[in-house]
Amino acid sequence: MDTIQPEIITNPSVLKKRIDTFRAENKSIGLVPTMGALHYGHLSLVLASKGDNDVTVVSIFVNPTQFAPGEDYEKYPRTLPDDIEKLAEVGGADIVFAPSPEAMYPKGFDANVHVGGVTAVLEGKFRPTHFDGVATVVLKLFNLTRADRAYFGQKDFQQIAVVKKMVADLNVPIEIVSCPIIREPDGIAMSSRNRYLSEKERQDALVLSRSLMEAEKQIAEGVRDTAVICADIRQKIEQIEGASVDYVVVADPDTLAEMERVAGNVVILLAARIGSTRLIDNRVITPKR
Ligand code: PAF
Repeated sequence: MDTIQPEIITNPSVLKKRIDTFRAENKSIGLVPTMGALHYGHLSLVLASKGDNDVTVVSIFVNPTQFAPGEDYEKYPRTLPDDIEKLAEVGGADIVFAPSPEAMYPKGFDANVHVGGVTAVLEGKFRPTHFDGVATVVLKLFNLTRADRAYFGQKDFQQIAVVKKMVADLNVPIEIVSCPIIREPDGIAMSSRNRYLSEKERQDALVLSRSLMEAEKQIAEGVRDTAVICADIRQKIEQIEGASVDYVVVADPDTLAEMERVAGNVVILLAARIGSTRLIDNRVITPKR
C-alpha cells in the first residue's frame, strides 16, 4: 500500500482554500472527525473514507466546548505526532486538520448549535452541555471541509443520532456514514479513554461488553422484559468494586426511545464508571422472532 504523508493544516482559512482546489478538480471529500489519540476504531473510519472518496481529511481537535467543567478536557490525550504515524498504518490521509482552540473559537465566538429531542436522554441527561458542543464543532468542520461524506463510529451511538438529526433539520448537504464498533480481541470497545484504565480496571471494564453479549443471549432465549435485561447488566457491573452505572437502557435504534419490551431491533446502551474512568458501550440486537 502506498502511504500518503498528510498535509498538516492548523489554520481554518488555509483549509478552506485547500478544499477549494479539491472542489475545482471535482474531487469528492470524506471527513473523519476525531479528537486524536487515534486507535484502530478511528483507522477503520479512515479506511472507509478512503474507499469512498478521492480525498480524506482527518480532523484532530480536542473540542473544549463538549467537555463540562470537571470532565477530562485537560487530561484528554494529545498525541499528534503519534496520530500521524498511526495513520500510516492505513496508508495515511490527504489532510490532517489540527487547529488550536483559539483558531476554532476566536475571541467573540458566540454561536451554539442545539439539537432538541434526541439530546435530552442518556448522555444528554448526564452531560447536559455535551451535545451542543459536539453539534457546534461538527457543523463547523462540515462547513470548513464541505465534505461529501463524514464518518462516525457506532460506539458513540447517540452522537450519530444527534449529527444525523442536525444534518436533516438544517439541510446540511453531507452524507453521514455510520461504521461498526471496533473491539479489542477480548471484546472491550476501542476508546481513547481506555488508556486511563489501570491494568486491573482494564480487566474489570470487560464486564461492559460481556454483559451486553450475555443480554443478547438472554434475548435469543426469549427474554423480552427490558427491566429484567437492564437489571441483570446493572447487577453484573455493580458487583465490581469501584464500578458504578450511569444508565443501562434498551431503546429503539432509530429514535432512542426507551422500550419496555423487546420487539424488533433494539439497541442496549450503557454508561458506567470503572474507577474514575467513564466508559460507554452499546449493542444492536435483532431478535430471531
Ligand atoms: O467522537 C468524537 O471524537 C467527537 O465527539 C467529535 C465527533 C470529533 C467532535 O469533537
